[in-house]
Amino acid sequence: MADMMWAGRFSKQVDAGVNAFNSSIAFDGRMYRHDIQGSIAHATMLGDCGIISKEDSLEIIGGLKEILADIDSGALEFDPNAEDIHMFIEAELTKRLGDVGKRLHTSRSRNDQVAVDIRLYLRDEIAEISGLVKKLAVTLVNMAKEHTETVMPGYTHLQRAQPITLAHHLMAYVWMLLRDLERLSDTAKRMNYCPLGSGALAGTTYKTNRQQTSDLLGFTAPMPNSLDGVSDRDFCVELNCALSLIMTHLSRFSEEVIMWCSWEFKFIELDDAFATGSSIMPQKKNPDITELIRGKTGRVNGDLVTLLSMLKGLPLAYNKDMQEDKEAIFDAVDNVKLCLKTFIPMIATMKVLKDNMRNAAARGFINATDCADYLVKKGMPFRDAYKITGTLVAQCIEKNLTLETLPIEDYRAMTDLFTEDVYEAISLDTCVKERKSEGGPSPDAVKQQIEIAEKALEL
Ligand code: ARG
Repeated sequence: MADMMWAGRFSKQVDAGVNAFNSSIAFDGRMYRHDIQGSIAHATMLGDCGIISKEDSLEIIGGLKEILADIDSGALEFDPNAEDIHMFIEAELTKRLGDVGKRLHTSRSRNDQVAVDIRLYLRDEIAEISGLVKKLAVTLVNMAKEHTETVMPGYTHLQRAQPITLAHHLMAYVWMLLRDLERLSDTAKRMNYCPLGSGALAGTTYKTNRQQTSDLLGFTAPMPNSLDGVSDRDFCVELNCALSLIMTHLSRFSEEVIMWCSWEFKFIELDDAFATGSSIMPQKKNPDITELIRGKTGRVNGDLVTLLSMLKGLPLAYNKDMQEDKEAIFDAVDNVKLCLKTFIPMIATMKVLKDNMRNAAARGFINATDCADYLVKKGMPFRDAYKITGTLVAQCIEKNLTLETLPIEDYRAMTDLFTEDVYEAISLDTCVKERKSEGGPSPDAVKQQIEIAEKALEL
């Protein structure tokens, strides 16, 4: 094994097991692009401030660009014995440039280096995830437009409650996703401050220009405190929170898709390309994707707990515990992307079985509230109307009838406020159309919220 970077202070090579235990290159190697981006900004600043010569700065930048190209093309592979991606790239630079390469780390520590790398890396990931969340929201808005008249039961306690439409239901998820988008952009905004120049913890004695590196890397400003600069991982927690909520939304939707596919509901049929069969039961068509999403939600929540637990007892400033941030937040990011990429085409291709939705809405006394409201509109206090309707429902259950098929005599036996027009008032279409309060399921009300959502999505 080659000498470690810190060999001067030590009289022995590090134990091979310890080196493997300590090494993070297996999981932080994916930040190579951002590490090089940060190093180029740092080398530029060192040259401009006269901390290293202009020629050395240019040579370092050229060397870093070549290393980047070689990693991209596969010509340069990571050394699994390297301690981390930062050490690997610096060692490779020195291998290629000799003494000049050794000047790159002037006035810098891996502590501010890794802090800047993760921020740059996650900034790109947030942009990609936001694009996917937006794509899902747009998919749902477009489906909603097709289904403003598709009546289905709305549930509370998973009991049929009141009639809604599929559009109304889908739009509920659009608003969750719009909040997810806000949370992501809010996290990105708060994360976008530059720790570079914090050094190991206590800044540096060189006359650096932190504003310059911050500007070069597209940050809002340098972080004002060097201790905070190297020990802050709040943004990982914040991002994981946002990701956990995205997963929670996908998971709730997945649970509904799972139910909707069952023979008990049969509201939808998944496209064959997005379902799986059974190894033994020939009739099966299973919604595995949605079950995996529901399962992976637990895993992303686990990542959040990992981050919070890792941070909670750490004294300032850097501690090696913080190396554990990466596997957690990368796992969360990877899984959210994977889930979104699979969920979007699955939803976009599923077949909606409108008749089954409507039939389900026609049973279960979903119009009972409307029946009570009919009496209220004729002057009866709501609680009395509620009681009478409850009695009528009980009669229907006993006679195996619905409110639509219960004879008018039975209605009028309860109160003569009931007349023939009750059947019109409790018809499924009326029940939906009349729920035109803002945010409600009537086709007009849903079209209004679709318009608002389209504006929010800049469509
Ligand atoms: N691999 C380390 C990490 O991910 C980089 C920072 C190392 N700093 C140190 N002082 N050992 O946290």
